Amino acid sequence: MKLSSANINVMVKACRKAAKTLIRDFGEVENLQVSLKGPGDYVSASDKKVEKILVEELQKARPNYSILSEEIGLIKNDEEFKWIIDPIDGTSNFLHGIPHFGISIGLECRKEIICGIIFDPIKDEIFTAEKGNGAYLNMQRMRVSSRTKLKDCMIFTGGPKEESEKSELALEEYKKFSSKISTPLRKMGSASLDMAYVAAGRAEGFFQRNLNYWDIAAGIIIVKEAGGLITDYSGNSDYINNRIIVATNEHINQDLVNLINN
Ligand code: IPD
Ligand code: CA
Ligand code: CA
Repeated sequence: MKLSSANINVMVKACRKAAKTLIRDFGEVENLQVSLKGPGDYVSASDKKVEKILVEELQKARPNYSILSEEIGLIKNDEEFKWIIDPIDGTSNFLHGIPHFGISIGLECRKEIICGIIFDPIKDEIFTAEKGNGAYLNMQRMRVSSRTKLKDCMIFTGGPKEESEKSELALEEYKKFSSKISTPLRKMGSASLDMAYVAAGRAEGFFQRNLNYWDIAAGIIIVKEAGGLITDYSGNSDYINNRIIVATNEHINQDLVNLINN
């Protein structure tokens, strides 16, 4: 078991430090100052505090790596390695006192995600993966579920955001699922945890439009290393540029893609 590579250790340490602030702020969530970044996209003071801690810790350990983080944008450095950070994924849940949000960090090497962590500070669950070394939930190896029939599957989705041009399309897609799966679609409010749960076999699939790279960077490697598949809505692999994702276990990808398209 190669759970503790140097980069994973750096990410876990940074998340653990940031989580202290996050947990404290979650306890005081009603007192947080909230500023409006755009329709449907609130940024809390906590997002910024957590981001600052993560950036400082990662820079301390890897001074040459570039960083792309949701709130501060790009810190350009070494072109080869780049951390992709979402300091709080699930800010709306956080701000409503719903304990379902996470810190998400992916590590890119020459444009490919090679490591990822999704850290749920409230449930103290750490989902990690590294290319070629498998995916783990805390110390346990994890794998996608083995369900094969779409009807029996737990499927997550997210969005659409108010301002999204694709809102109507997304709502049409949701409707298609109502007669095809026994458990209605779930919208849990944290894309990274949605992907972590697919990797852990708690859900079989997740799909969404209009995602940002930091929402999915860590999830990509975690799902893949857990034996899952990731495509866009056409079944192709250009999901990052298309900002559309279907993350599933190894069995239902095609059925899910077909359902979305028919
Ligand atoms: C959001 C969450 C949500 C997804 C949105 C994301 P944020 O991220 O992941 O589940 O549906 O598209 O923007 O704003 O909480 O970091
Ligand atoms: Ca996010
Ligand atoms: Ca965020």
